[in-house]
Amino acid sequence: MYAVEPNPSRLETIKAGRSFFFEEGLDVLIKSALDNGSLIPTDSYANSVKHSFAVFSCVGTPDNPDGSSNLEYVMSAAKQAAQYMQPGAIYIQKSTVPVGTGLQIIAIFDKLGVQAPYISNPEFLREGTAVHDTLYFDRIVAGGDDKDAVETVLGIYQKLEESRDKITKLSGVSTGNKSGQYMATSLNSAELIKVAANAFLAMKISFANSIARLSDAVDADIVEVMDAVGADARIGRSFLNAGRGYGGGCFPKDVSGLIASGLKNGVELELIQATQSLNDSMPGYIVKKLHTALGGIKNKKIAILGLAFKAGTSDVRRSPGVTIANILAQSGATVTTYDPQAQEQAAEWLYEGISQNFSINDALAGVDAVVIATDWPEILTYPPTLYAKTMKGAILMDAVNALSRHRMESHNLTYIGVGR
Ligand code: UGA
Repeated sequence: MYAVEPNPSRLETIKAGRSFFFEEGLDVLIKSALDNGSLIPTDSYANSVKHSFAVFSCVGTPDNPDGSSNLEYVMSAAKQAAQYMQPGAIYIQKSTVPVGTGLQIIAIFDKLGVQAPYISNPEFLREGTAVHDTLYFDRIVAGGDDKDAVETVLGIYQKLEESRDKITKLSGVSTGNKSGQYMATSLNSAELIKVAANAFLAMKISFANSIARLSDAVDADIVEVMDAVGADARIGRSFLNAGRGYGGGCFPKDVSGLIASGLKNGVELELIQATQSLNDSMPGYIVKKLHTALGGIKNKKIAILGLAFKAGTSDVRRSPGVTIANILAQSGATVTTYDPQAQEQAAEWLYEGISQNFSINDALAGVDAVVIATDWPEILTYPPTLYAKTMKGAILMDAVNALSRHRMESHNLTYIGVGR
């Protein structure tokens, strides 16, 4: 198997047997595949695509300033691969693309005289649990007109499933759902399944956050509410955790991409628009609550614990923790931060003057308030006695709703949650 990586420093890292980002279980798999010769990292399409019967496109699809998907890398990869596709080879799209992209690429292939079957095979793994999710999937979707090619793609995952126990052991990830489904669909359906699934999960989070705001207003507890709402098997408890809102390289851009896709096709997706605007307002809502508790933000010293968009990753793209830190700094607060994995990535996004610290203790020293912005175990298990000892003030804003109010209050901390 070849891995094509055009970025020289990333390629060198992979060649050295490591991933260029933090992901549980991945380094050991890369190292082992390099050692046994089954993984060949390269920057050359010619030396890789030419020898491959299946070519997976797994490139980034960031958003344009108007929220639509930027397909620059998807198109560039397709055009470069097209030069070397061998007869019978299948082109498989794993990148998240707006519905209709596959047809555009097929048209490009036709123009270039490339006959390769084109299959949409969307990715459903989560950052932080990528290896686990790849091995223990809920479903594998493959969509396209060429039924034999669809079956071949599904067969690749069946092979992976056969080696699942071995890979689980080697990577050290936990086991999970063993009864994932294989689904063959049309090309456009496969493309839509991916963004619709992400938009639905984002909508669940925004739903929980809007009920959390009402809970704040009427003195109810959103955790109790969602525990009971989610206990209904038709609804399910997952993705109903209220807090500072969703971030990352997927939900924000997939939600805006779906809205743009709708508009392009004359359909206004109001529910998805509301999901987005509610989420955009959550960091400001957190700051407002802090403002009320502190009697103002200006000249206050505030610590942000957690800069990654979620625990288990060093990714800070669209991270609510970073947004909250920047709003506070802009409002005249002195802001200190700490994250166990994402300090380096966060550096370029944090406004000037925001300090990064090497430990929770350092970040908390002398602050008036602390905001828990990512649910890292190291942060959630930090002893309440130490908060009280290290901080000047006593306000603890739990923006991920992951701590016990009772426990924090019993150590003389003023606990503020989101909808609690
Ligand atoms: C998401 C999807 O969960 C994956 O299925 C999908 O494959 C992936 O996007 C993708 O499109 O590539 P990911 O972005 O890695 O995965 O992270 P999630 O675990 O979904 O979390 C996204 C954000 O929602 C995080 O900021 C998280 O803190 C937040 N979240 C999650 C909540 O605020 N509340 C919840 O209840 C759950």
